[in-house]
Amino acid sequence: MADIKQEIQRRRTFAIISHPDAGKTTLTEKFLLYGGAIQSAGAVKGKSSDRHATSDWMEIEKKRGISVTSSVLQFEYGGYCINILDTPGHQDFSEDTYRTLMAADSAVMVIDGAKGIEPQTRKLFKVCAMRHIPIFTFINKMDREARDPFDLVDELEKEFGIGTYAVNWPIGCGAGFKGVYERDRRSILAFDEFHAGRRRIEGVECDISDTERMDSLIGSYAREELVSQIELLDGASFDFDLQKVRTGRLSPVFFGSALNNFGVEAFLQRFLKMTTPPLEHISGDEIISPFDERFSAFVFKIQANMNKAHRDRIAFLRICSGQFERGREYWHVQADRPVKLSQPQQMMAQEREIVDTAYAGDIIGVFDPGIFSIGDTVCEKGEKLRYAGIPTFAPEHFAVVEQIDSMKRKQFAKGVTEIAQEGAIQIFFEPGTGMERVVVGVVGVLQFDVLQFRMESEYGVRYNKRDLPHQLIRYIDNADLNPAELKLMQTTRWVQDVRGRNLLIFVGQYEIDWALDKNPGLMLSEFNQNTDAV
Ligand code: G4P
Repeated sequence: MADIKQEIQRRRTFAIISHPDAGKTTLTEKFLLYGGAIQSAGAVKGKSSDRHATSDWMEIEKKRGISVTSSVLQFEYGGYCINILDTPGHQDFSEDTYRTLMAADSAVMVIDGAKGIEPQTRKLFKVCAMRHIPIFTFINKMDREARDPFDLVDELEKEFGIGTYAVNWPIGCGAGFKGVYERDRRSILAFDEFHAGRRRIEGVECDISDTERMDSLIGSYAREELVSQIELLDGASFDFDLQKVRTGRLSPVFFGSALNNFGVEAFLQRFLKMTTPPLEHISGDEIISPFDERFSAFVFKIQANMNKAHRDRIAFLRICSGQFERGREYWHVQADRPVKLSQPQQMMAQEREIVDTAYAGDIIGVFDPGIFSIGDTVCEKGEKLRYAGIPTFAPEHFAVVEQIDSMKRKQFAKGVTEIAQEGAIQIFFEPGTGMERVVVGVVGVLQFDVLQFRMESEYGVRYNKRDLPHQLIRYIDNADLNPAELKLMQTTRWVQDVRGRNLLIFVGQYEIDWALDKNPGLMLSEFNQNTDAV
């Protein structure tokens, strides 16, 4: 058992979150270079070289040059086994992004030093904060003109309501970027422009008290300014507190430049030490330790068509405890039956590999013949664990989708139902209409394109789509009420979900207020936030 414990202890499973273009891909790529998982830069998302590493599972991704789906990468570095969960960085994202964060034990937030917090960072941060997982901040692109570092740190604290601890501090920015000061070692790491680029170079080290050398490296003006900034920083900032870091209340902040590979390895090393090994998970009243000998995992993502040739469907499981062994029989709690997880695979940098064993903290993808749903638990035979809490987010965009060819009624129904099962979209029905016409709700509008693409390519179905102006959705909680009798504004629509529950969709808040005002006793509740499995 000892080595299983060791294996689990050395696992670090985290997500990198950022607003598009902040530098998430560049940073990931540098991590992989350090881990020896890739040999050359540009391999992860070779915009120019066209060498997509892991995420070109769907043609739509290639066409748009973005990653629609989240991928998982595993590599070794400094004795750690690292699992990076990649969250799509497009403007527009789906519930998948949120769910991916449910499988992470910590998050690295990449921020563009010129821009500070951007909308996407804000949304993703909220999900991390909800789980109290450690959040590390990498303020990137310091080789370009950036905002004042005090302002940036202040913004993080004010907007996110957490403390920050600057682990290093930038010396200038843009053309005047001279490097960073490392507070724990009281040394600077000078930015060596000569070596800038894609080489493994971290710069030149110097003790801050060595004035002469400091001056020769960064100049006396920059040195004096640094000394006064450090005084200010030491006096005003929070103390470092690992416990607070590990419970998501204090975010260690690092400055650097991913593109220039500056400050990246120093960041990785400190991050790996500070962040947690796999976290505990809760099933009912029981807290399951990752070191528990009993294997358990939950499905956090289902993805169809990763390999076009096989039309396969992969369920991604986050292992919460114990050790997974290929070929063993496990228990699928929601189906209440035994299950063999077939073709278990992990994403090793550039390709998928079949795995024989995996440990708590790891993510495995298994072939799904259509038995799994998001949030399902797989554990040892005889156990009844249920890892609840994969949130369903309220759709914010709606459209009516109607089949064109009535000969393809079955395929249409099958397509929208299966894609809804994967959690990429939500489907609703307008009472009285059949399965030829559905109301589709999505969190990010890109999902509409994904739906259209997949319906055509996988199910051979084309349809008409009409966007709706609606943005809000509420359940009707009154069980004995006939929604047809409600007094509603003309634009408010009554729909039902797959379980037959009644919902109303609204264009704006004023419509909700109107409905509540005109229908005394009407009880509306928010769409399933944070419920048990969908
Ligand atoms: P993302 O995954 O968060 O969307 O960002 P990505 O890494 O793709 O980086 C977005 C752009 O920012 C890229 O430029 C990248 O080269 C650049 N970048 C990343 N880190 C740094 C940095 O530290 N300094 C500077 N100056 N630029 C940085 P691009 O022109 O859009 O793409 P490419 O042609 O370089 O691939």
